[in-house]
Amino acid sequence: MELARTIESVRQSVAAARARDKSIGFVPTMGALHAGHVSLIEAAVQKCDFVVVSIFVNPTQFGPSEDFDKYTRDLEGDMKICAEAGVDLVFAPTASEMYHEANITWVNVEKLTLNLCGRNRPGHFRGVTTVCAKLFNIVSPDVAFFGQKDAQQAIVIKRMVSDLNMPLQIVVCPTVREPDGLAVSSRNKYLSASERKDAVFLSQSLAECEKLVKTGQRNCEALIESMRKIISKSSKAQIEYISIVDTETLTDIDVIEGAALVALAVKFGSTRLIDNIFVGLLKQ
Ligand code: PAJ
Repeated sequence: MELARTIESVRQSVAAARARDKSIGFVPTMGALHAGHVSLIEAAVQKCDFVVVSIFVNPTQFGPSEDFDKYTRDLEGDMKICAEAGVDLVFAPTASEMYHEANITWVNVEKLTLNLCGRNRPGHFRGVTTVCAKLFNIVSPDVAFFGQKDAQQAIVIKRMVSDLNMPLQIVVCPTVREPDGLAVSSRNKYLSASERKDAVFLSQSLAECEKLVKTGQRNCEALIESMRKIISKSSKAQIEYISIVDTETLTDIDVIEGAALVALAVKFGSTRLIDNIFVGLLKQ
């Protein structure tokens, strides 16, 4: 496995792989790799001949009061995980390699970034789409892999790729969960023991919503209320949002008619967790 610290060296390695007729798979990450990231790498290894993982804590997607400085950086540990998972090339640039000078060119996906996490994290998705556009230009993959865990991110990236005619395919992989249902996240380790115990209410509330939809409840207000009740069993949980949205426009809906995305963000102290599921019938 190779480690590239510069854009030039990634381009060279990828060009060499292409010259050997290899398809290029790409998994963008911010490091602190865990089972969720590994599932994306495994999907990439299965589908593509040459797999690139980027590890870059992207400053432009963090708000001023967010956890950029606190975000775990462990290149050595991440490299070990990548090597074991069958990655060919790790791209771990410095911030100055990625952003030579303060950025004045941005990629902004409108509308889809207004609701859900976009409501409380202004500028976040602009940072994500800009860095992903840059990474796609640097790595030039055939396929890039994203997690369902960040459902809005995956939908926004797909739309950027489509709107800008970027020549790659986006594959979205299922959310990897702990045995009790909590979605695996690098932020879970910041939870205290009692917060960690209560964090299970997030996936439980989503499971309850799914069950109610299956038994015929289609009213979103009632569904959201049942979820709120479950999460509020924890005195420590501060609900940022629980929303049921159209899977294409990401706008709130009142009644589930076709497919819907049920998404939530909950804070335990300063630790912000998100989770989601799709419910209802898929559109024909
Ligand atoms: P990061 O949070 O490191 O996540 C990298 C990828 O792993 C994302 O596609 C995310 O959805 C996926 N992922 C995280 N937890 C997962 C889980 N439990 N199951 C399945 N997939 C999971 O998302 C980012 O980084 C950044 O915004 C990035 C796209 C790299 C741009 O900076």
